[in-house]
Order: sequence, then structure tokens, then C-alpha cells
Amino acid sequence: MATTVLVGAQWGDEGKGKIIDVLTEQADVVVRYQGGNNAGHTVEVGTEKYVLHLVPSGILYPGKLNIIGNGVVVDPAALLEEINHLQSRRIAVNGNLLVSNRAHLVFPYHRLLDSIREEQKGKRKIGTTKRGIGPAYADKVARTGLRVVDLLTPEKFSEKLRRKVRETNEIARAFGARPLSFKTINGEYLAIARKLKPFITDTIKLLNRLERDGKQILFEGAQGTMLDIDFGTYPFVTSSNTTAGGACAGTGIPPHRIDKVIGVMKAYTTRVGEGPFPTELHDDQGSQLRETGREFGATTGRPRRCGWFDAVVSRYSVMVNGLDELAVTKLDVLDTLPKIKVCVAYKLDGKVTDTVPADVDAMQRCVPVYQEFDGWQASTKEAREFSELPKKARAYLQKLAQLTGAKLAIVSVGARREETIFL
Ligand code: GDP
Ligand code: IMO
Ligand code: MG
Repeated sequence: MATTVLVGAQWGDEGKGKIIDVLTEQADVVVRYQGGNNAGHTVEVGTEKYVLHLVPSGILYPGKLNIIGNGVVVDPAALLEEINHLQSRRIAVNGNLLVSNRAHLVFPYHRLLDSIREEQKGKRKIGTTKRGIGPAYADKVARTGLRVVDLLTPEKFSEKLRRKVRETNEIARAFGARPLSFKTINGEYLAIARKLKPFITDTIKLLNRLERDGKQILFEGAQGTMLDIDFGTYPFVTSSNTTAGGACAGTGIPPHRIDKVIGVMKAYTTRVGEGPFPTELHDDQGSQLRETGREFGATTGRPRRCGWFDAVVSRYSVMVNGLDELAVTKLDVLDTLPKIKVCVAYKLDGKVTDTVPADVDAMQRCVPVYQEFDGWQASTKEAREFSELPKKARAYLQKLAQLTGAKLAIVSVGARREETIFL
């Protein structure tokens, strides 16, 4: 395996965690490069199910190195809780997990601001995960953020924190929210800092050395292309570059050292939170996809909005990520359907278009142009080779790859490791 970036090609929850876990077998290092604990990546091994938020999904394979890169925003309390949880389930987290000293920290005041801003937006709310991700990235860009490295110098840390809490409390008061206590946060974070110290390092230097030594590095994207701060359905997006370019900025590995980009997409589409979603199904068909696909958020438990596969989105995703290969997941969820639709273009104000509009209201007005396929109405769950899939399922997958314009490389027919087909 070469240095590979894996991204979500839709609106998140495509099954990145599962595919990363499967690919980790051939990798040496797995790296998260953006997002924070807004992510929820599910990995099923045997009868065990793990949901990872900040820790890379490579952690379940012994002997692999897992890195939280500089582009991630780290809620240290959530990270410590995740480490403790994994350890309580006998997953070794000791020497195999490192955190960039340049990563920015998420604080309780970021979560408070996240909530206040959502409330202020009313009907136009984003439907965030309320993990404080947006405000933490805003502080990073405003150059007022605190970073992991600050945890190592308690006095300086406290001084910076005191200023931030004072500033946020003014905002909190203005919106009638309860002010936060500097003393409580400071005490909590310094205690956590002592526990996280062994995990903190200069991951940029380390990663570049490992890469030069020929180690196989796998970059684990979080969220999805349509939630990217630049390429997504702004403002209904997350606050980071979820796309392949983010892997360089978020880890310090230069662009020319990346060999391959894989896009993960469901055989249909889902979205959590608000914002345009042209192929969304508001009828029984949508509920059926939600029930069969168990489409409930891995982080917030919210029901996911469900709809047909959108090839306008998948082509756009190939373009902005430079996808070489596709991993199509959850094919099995379509097993019982007599008819399956795929959106091949949009109709916008009476005109057919095959591009994603920049204006979110225009995207809202897009009506999908569908092509209909016969369902295969047979189980795909037992297939381990492409040739073992029903003929109509193969035709459907080939059509998705053709419409998308990238090579079909992986098909997932169930949540577990073995329910995977490599082409
Ligand atoms: P991620 O955020 O992209 O890692 O995806 P999530 O973990 O949030 O959501 C994907 C869900 O689908 C999880 O519950 C997975 O266990 C499950 N899953 C992944 N691949 C498959 C598949 O091929 N078939 C089925 N039925 N479930 C899958
Ligand atoms: P994974 O990595 C799906 C969505 C939220 C909301 C928007 C902004 O599991 O695919 P944020 O809290 O990031 O400011 O919320 O982005 N969102 C996700 N949707 N999967 C995710 O992560 C998501 N992370 C954030 O629902 O619409
Ligand atoms: Mg998820």
C-alpha cells in the first residue's frame, strides 16, 4: 500500500471507520488530519462494536501507530475519556497513540459558543454536533487559540486561558447564558495535561521521518466532502477542510508524497444536521433506508436523513479530492428493494445542470433527474468476491463507478471486517 488519503465523498458517515480498519492491516501508521470529536467512526470486529471520535480507527490493530495530526481540534477531556474507554475494553493504548503538539484545543467555552450561535440562528441553524468545533477553529484562525503544546507550560497556559474565559463570559452574559469558571476549567485541564503528556509530541517531524523510511501511512478523513468548509454546502458545513488537500495542511506531509486518494461513499446517501440534500426521501422509502441501514448518528444519536445516490455529488467529489479509487459501502442495505434510483443530474430553475451550485439556496432548489435500476432482491452479505454478487448488483456498482468517474476498488456488504470485497 502506498501513502493513501481516505475521505468521505458525501455528507459524512459513509463508513470511513470500517474501511480504515480494513486497510490498516497493510498500513504502519494511521493519521487523523482534521475535525475533532464531532466525528463518529464505527468499527465492528467480531461481536464487538467500537465508536471512535478522536482516536484514529487504526487503534484496533495491534502494532500500528496512530497519530492525531496538527489539523485536528482536540478536546482533551474527550480524548482522555476515549483512551480510558478503549483501555477498559482491553485495547492497548500505550505508545501506539501520539498527539501533535501543534493541534488546537477545544474548551468548554467553545461548546458554549457553539450552542449560543445555533440558538441565535433559530430556523437557519446548522444542526452542529455541539462539540465546539466551529468556535475552536474560529479561534485558531483568529490567532487566539490555545494549542496542545500550551498544556506543557502550565503558567503560560493559565494566563492565556484566563483571558479567553473572560472574553467568552462577556459574550455569554450578553446572551443570557451562565458564565464559566476559569478556576474550574484551569484545574481540570492541568490535571488532564499531566495524563496526556506522554502522548504529546512533534508529529510533523516524526511523520516525515516515517514516510522517508518507507512506512505506509493512511490518512483518515473525518466528515465528508460536502461538509468541507470550502467545497461543501456552506454555511451548512463543518469548520475544516475534510477533503484530500486537508491531509497535507493537517499533518505536515507535503502534497507530492501522497500516492493515492480513496473516496468512501454509501450506495445511497445520508446527511445529519440541516442544509440542502437534493435526493432526500421524505417518504416511506427514506424511513426504510434509515431502518435497514440503521442510520442513526454515531456521535449524537440523531436520525440521519436518507436518500438516493447522488452522482452529481460523487463526480464533484472525484474532482475536488482527485479520487483514484472508490469504496462503496452498505450495498447490503439495498438488497430487498425492487427499484433503486440514482440522481444523474439536477434540474435548477428549469435547466439541467451537472454541477454543484455555490449558492446554498440554489442547491436547495435543485430537483434530481433520476435514472432507475432494477433491484437484485437477493442477499449480498455473504459475497466475498465481486463475481459472487448478483448480476444486477454488479451492474448497479459499475454504473455508480462509471457515473462517478473513478475506479471501483472496494465494496462493503456489512459492518464487519470480513464483509468486504476487494476488486
Ligand atoms: P463513518 O463516520 O464514515 O466512519 O461512518 P459511521 O460509523 O458514522 O456510520 C457508518 C455505519 O454503517 C456504522 O454503523 C457502520 O458499522 C455501518 N457500516 C459500515 N459499512 C457497512 C456496510 O457495508 N453495510 C452495513 N449494513 N453497515 C455498514
Ligand atoms: P463523521 O466523521 C456526519 C455535521 C453536523 C452538522 C455539520 C456541522 O462521523 O463522518 P459541527 O459539529 O462539525 O460544527 O457540525 O456537520 N457533521 C457530521 N455529519 N458525520 C460526521 O462525522 C459529522 N461531523 C459533523 O451534523 O450538520
Ligand atoms: Mg460517523
